[in-house]
Amino acid sequence: MNWRALFKPSAKYSVLALLVVGIVIGAIGFFATQQTLHATSTNAFCMTCHAGHSLEQEVLQSPHGANSAGIVVQCQQCHIPQEPFAYLMKKIVVSKDIIGFMTIDGFETQDWLETNRKQQAELARDFLRSIDSSTCQNCHNRIYETPSPEMKKMAVRMHAMNFKKPADKRKTCVDCHRGVAHPYPKN
Ligand code: HEC
Ligand code: HEC
Ligand code: HEC
Ligand code: HEC
Repeated sequence: MNWRALFKPSAKYSVLALLVVGIVIGAIGFFATQQTLHATSTNAFCMTCHAGHSLEQEVLQSPHGANSAGIVVQCQQCHIPQEPFAYLMKKIVVSKDIIGFMTIDGFETQDWLETNRKQQAELARDFLRSIDSSTCQNCHNRIYETPSPEMKKMAVRMHAMNFKKPADKRKTCVDCHRGVAHPYPKN
């Protein structure tokens, strides 16, 4: 191929060639991003940094890891929104953790987690509030409108009471439910 032709826009084929090259590079970029996003959505990815933390075992011991349905809920199913835009935004926020990981002394230790759990839990809850616990609702959907027949009366009543309120006064899942996957710190 005559590469110089690419730099001569007046030539008939060079414009076409530019277009083709552009599309190919664009496609590679697009799929590379998809691959990266996919790779960053596994428990293993989360645990590379949170390696010394008991977070994974905690989930296994909670109703989200030990249930009769045999479902083990993955980190990102609760912490990373599924909507593409929100997903991307959260990824960008998580990428800030890289700086934290490099600068926080002793971050990978269980000690650090226990000392900072309350603060970290509130950060996680603030984020979930900001997305109206949409990740929870992906699995527990229409829980207010159509509760399952097995649901405890008390739960149905509390949920109905919340749902009756105007949307902006309604509590979100994590306002009432704490410690659904990790032990919620007492202080
Ligand atoms: C690059 C290392 C790194 C990776 C990868 C990582 N984290 Fe973190 N994470 C951190 C650090 C550091 C903090 C503490 C940030 C701070 O307070 O400054 C943190 C804090 C958190 C918090 C509590 C604070 C908050 O903002 O919500 C949650 C929840 C969390 N990570 C979940 C995850 C999940 C889920 C994954 C996998 C999708 C993940 N992390 C992957 C380093 C990482
Ligand atoms: C991937 C699906 C999935 C996601 C995401 C999910 N859950 Fe669950 N949840 C389950 C399953 C499965 C059970 C166990 C049901 C059983 O035992 O029959 C459960 C059980 C529960 C229970 C009853 C057990 C308990 O802890 O008292 C509550 C409350 C709950 N989830 C709240 C939440 C909240 C809040 C979130 C978001 C932070 C969430 N769930 C995210 C699937 C999910
Ligand atoms: C106003 C407080 C409140 C809000 C908001 C709330 N819940 Fe609940 N929920 C409760 C109470 C109270 C119970 C009954 C006690 C318990 O099981 O923890 C309950 C029970 C549950 C259960 C177990 C039901 C059963 O008996 O099988 C699930 C699952 C659940 N909630 C999910 C959610 C999800 C998902 C959201 C958000 C869409 C949510 N809840 C919002 C108060 C609330
Ligand atoms: C069922 C949903 C769910 C799953 C699964 C889950 N988390 Fe969480 N996580 C939460 C919620 C909700 C909080 C906020 C604090 C609370 O309520 O306990 C939280 C808090 C955290 C925190 C802050 C410290 C703390 O203990 O509160 C970190 C770090 C974290 N999660 C990481 C992870 C990692 C890593 C995984 C996968 C091994 C994971 N989470 C799986 C729902 C979940």
